[in-house]
Amino acid sequence: MYDVHCHILPDLDDGPKTLEAALEMARIAAADGTKAIVATPHAEQVAARGGCPFLEERVQAFRHELQANGIGLDLVTGVEHVLTVELLKEAKEGRAVTLNGSHYILVELDFFQWPPFAEDAFFQLQIAGYTPVLAHPERQATIQKEPERLARLVEAGVLAQVTAGSLLGEFGGTALESAEELVRRGLVHCIASDGHSPEARRRPPLMSEARQALAELAGAETAQLLGIANPQAILGGKQVVLPDPPRRSRGKRFLWFGRG
Ligand SMILES: [Fe+2]
Repeated sequence: MYDVHCHILPDLDDGPKTLEAALEMARIAAADGTKAIVATPHAEQVAARGGCPFLEERVQAFRHELQANGIGLDLVTGVEHVLTVELLKEAKEGRAVTLNGSHYILVELDFFQWPPFAEDAFFQLQIAGYTPVLAHPERQATIQKEPERLARLVEAGVLAQVTAGSLLGEFGGTALESAEELVRRGLVHCIASDGHSPEARRRPPLMSEARQALAELAGAETAQLLGIANPQAILGGKQVVLPDPPRRSRGKRFLWFGRG
C-alpha cells in the first residue's frame, strides 16, 4: 500500500514528538503492508521552520534513520495545506509543495466552516496546474450534511481522500456514515492513514483493515483501487481512476492535466 497522507516526521507538527515514536510509526506501517509514505506535515509548521529546504532536510534525515534501523519503507515529501488565499498565491507562483513533486496537492478545509471561496479556490488551483486532493471530506461538517458539495467538486476535477480510520468508526458514527455514503456514491478516490502517532488511540499509520472494510462495503475492485492503485498513482504523478459506484464493476478513466 501507499500512504499519501501521514504526519510521520518527528518533532515538527502534531505528529510524533520523538524520533523513536516516528520510527515506531514507520515499523507499524511497514508491518501493515505499506511500501511508501508521503510525509505530509501541516504547511503552517513547515513554513514557520524554514519552508521547503527545511522540509527536504528533515525528510532526508528521517530517510537515513529508516535505513539505519532496517525499516523497509520509502519516504517522500509532501505537505498538508489549508485552503487559504496564501496557498493560492504560492500555487500561482509555482512554489506550493505537492505530493512527491507531482501535480497533486493535499488540501484540507476547516472541519466546521465551509469557506465561501472554496469552489473558486479549488478552481484557481487547477488553473495553476495543480490537482487538489481534498483530505478527509467525511470529517467535514458541511460535507457530512450536504454530500452534494463534494459531488460538485469531484465533478469539477477535485480528488477526495478519506481517512482509513473513518471507515472503521474511529472518528464516530457521523464520519463513518459519511465515509460510507461518499464511497457508495463513487466520490472517493483514495484512502490514507492521516497517521499522527504509534499509539492506537491517536491515529497510527494503518490502512489494511480499512481496505478490508472497503472490500466489504464496495467490493474488492474498489478496495484495490482506493487502497492501492490510486494512492500509488498519486505518489507517482500518474492519472487516477474514479471508481464507479458499487454494483457496476468497471472503473471510469479520468485524465488530469499536470504541470509537466
Ligand atoms: Fe493530516
